[in-house]
Amino acid sequence: MHHFHYSGPDLHCESVDLAAVAKLYGTPTYIYSAATMEDNYRRLQRGLSGLDAQLCYAMKANSNLALLRHFSNLGASFDLVSGGEIQRVLAAGANVRSSVFAGIGKTEPEIRLAMENGVFAFHVESEPELARINHVAGKVGLKAPIAIRVNPDVDAKTHAKITTGKSDNKFGIPLKYAGAAYEAAAKYPNIAIKGVQMHIGSQLTSVAPYVEAVEKMAPFAADLKTRFGITYFSIGGGMGIVYRDALASGQQAWWDAQPADKRPLTPESYGASMVPLLKPLGLKILLEHGRFMVGNAGVLLSRVEHLKRGAGKNFLIVDAAMNDLVRPAMYESFHEIVPVHRDSSRRALTADVVGPICESGDCFAKDRQLQEVGEGELIAFMSAGAYGYTMASRYNTRAMPAEVLVRGSAFELINARETFEQMVAGEKIPAFLR
Ligand code: LLP
Repeated sequence: MHHFHYSGPDLHCESVDLAAVAKLYGTPTYIYSAATMEDNYRRLQRGLSGLDAQLCYAMKANSNLALLRHFSNLGASFDLVSGGEIQRVLAAGANVRSSVFAGIGKTEPEIRLAMENGVFAFHVESEPELARINHVAGKVGLKAPIAIRVNPDVDAKTHAKITTGKSDNKFGIPLKYAGAAYEAAAKYPNIAIKGVQMHIGSQLTSVAPYVEAVEKMAPFAADLKTRFGITYFSIGGGMGIVYRDALASGQQAWWDAQPADKRPLTPESYGASMVPLLKPLGLKILLEHGRFMVGNAGVLLSRVEHLKRGAGKNFLIVDAAMNDLVRPAMYESFHEIVPVHRDSSRRALTADVVGPICESGDCFAKDRQLQEVGEGELIAFMSAGAYGYTMASRYNTRAMPAEVLVRGSAFELINARETFEQMVAGEKIPAFLR
């Protein structure tokens, strides 16, 4: 469910006409719905009622300061993966003290920054990392709170590049060695054991892999509680969103019409399976969802440059490109593409929707069917709120796109389109070339 819908012929985000946003701020521009994020947060909370659960929003999905503040106001903390993300949380006026720091290659300065800001826990991915954290904690003069990320060897049945919980992935310590890792952790003078963590992958569309992983992990977590007094179990993130019927899935009617065996994962069904498995542990449960919180809360607005009719093939050339939204080029991912102004009198068009970048990979969709749109008209890429802006680049010296947040009938620019001067600010011609 989300708040992008047509009001008459015009695509709206909450009560805002997307064409009005394009008029003020141009394109390509990411547009986010504050109400959708709030709904997602509350649904997840309700789904897990009965547990002492805390969302650590995986801000790698979208780390705009305004979104961080919004989630923080709602009560979320954060799953951090770099010193830059720690600084973002601080800049947003949000809380590092209840946030967790993950990642397989935390540097010494990053560990120090996290400790100085009182991070809730480090999620440790290897024995050498444990030694490094102990070493830095000793220098800072504090005990470092940790949980070990355990790899439960479960197939998340998602895209190969975003599956993380199989034994051949680079993440975590295998379950069979994790006991020894905790024993080693207990011997370090500057380490305080606080919890246990797992994360099996991203864009999961069924609850079965979660159930399998939690069933594998629960006896281990119970044992850690007895032996080391752990207080929490982080079950990671990964809840998937609807990409294919993205626009329709904003309405309850769409969900009601899905056959029971095809219904995508919801926070309600996730909670219904997770709560009975987790409650008996008597541990605080942390969740690290990113995509579910923001994915369907954002679209990328773009303008058509040309409709190029080819021999047996049409190309819709738009002003957004793979530098703005890399997911289709990188993961062959599907994003629904819809016109901002719907007109039922238009003919249907089958076209490859492509950006202007000089490589064939700059393609958002092949042979996509949509309403015929022409030069100057607006389209929206749905479900672009997660891993859209955060994975964008300046390839082809294209500026980072603008971002706008909508709430009700209000909207505000939360990140101005980058200027050329900002793009080259750090560059200089060395003396030996002058
Ligand atoms: N926790 C850990 C330890 C993670 O590695 C991740 C994501 C998450 C939580 C959040 O996962 P989520 O709830 O967002 O699925 N760029 C890819 C997704 C990469 C996910 C990386 N790790 C994409 O665009 O699909």
